[in-house]
Amino acid sequence: MNQQTVNLSYDTYGKGIPILLIHGFPLNRSIWDAVIPSLSENALVIVPDLRGFGKSPVRKDGYSMDIFAEDILDFLNRLGIEKIAIAGHSMGGYVALAVARKARERLSGLGLVCSRVGADSPERRESRYLLAARVLAEGAQVIGEGMPAQLSHRIEIQERIREIIQDTEPEVIAGALIAMAERPDQTDLLADLNVPVLFIAGSDDLLSPPALNQQMHAAIPGSLYFEISGAGHMPMMEAPAETSRALRYWIDVISANWG
Ligand code: MLT
Repeated sequence: MNQQTVNLSYDTYGKGIPILLIHGFPLNRSIWDAVIPSLSENALVIVPDLRGFGKSPVRKDGYSMDIFAEDILDFLNRLGIEKIAIAGHSMGGYVALAVARKARERLSGLGLVCSRVGADSPERRESRYLLAARVLAEGAQVIGEGMPAQLSHRIEIQERIREIIQDTEPEVIAGALIAMAERPDQTDLLADLNVPVLFIAGSDDLLSPPALNQQMHAAIPGSLYFEISGAGHMPMMEAPAETSRALRYWIDVISANWG
């Protein structure tokens, strides 16, 4: 095992072509629960927790998109999986892009769910550094107060997100914020990946709005785009049936190219 990597906690479901679903910030693999029954009817669905999140080991330091990606590649090696389609939610999409940058030959498809390919603006970067410092000084509740409402307008989903945040170590939240601030622009990578690329947007998402997703989709000929009506930043929880349909369409395209 690469010295820096950690052993990720994960679940697998179903049989078929392998699909990896990566959660966003500051969440864990349980966000995918409602789409798994449908996806696992014709795919091997693998859902890990990124380092520090959910049940994966907490490291007080060592957070970057490259390190998250190294953990994933090491994890796939341990599972003996050579080629896989990866869909990432928001920060999970940044991780999926970092995996693609390191090992594009291992990707059979790339899905970005409410995510983005560009880097942070200088203002956004600065606000992440400030937030990371506050989380380290004051605790995870700094994020737990305001963030859930930005992710979904559904109260029960906000409550679930708040619980997840409360269970996450401040060092992990701060590390991931800094990792997001320092992630590179991946626009050039996506343009010549040559695998089925999927974009899913929530119609009401303010963090990764439909217009941004349409722009990314327009820049990648042949890519797929689905807008989930009435969903915010958490379509897999807010509208699992529609989100599953979009992911299954993408899986069908990958299956047709498989082999
Ligand atoms: C996420 O949902 O993973 C984050 O909101 C992404 C971000 O802040 O860029």
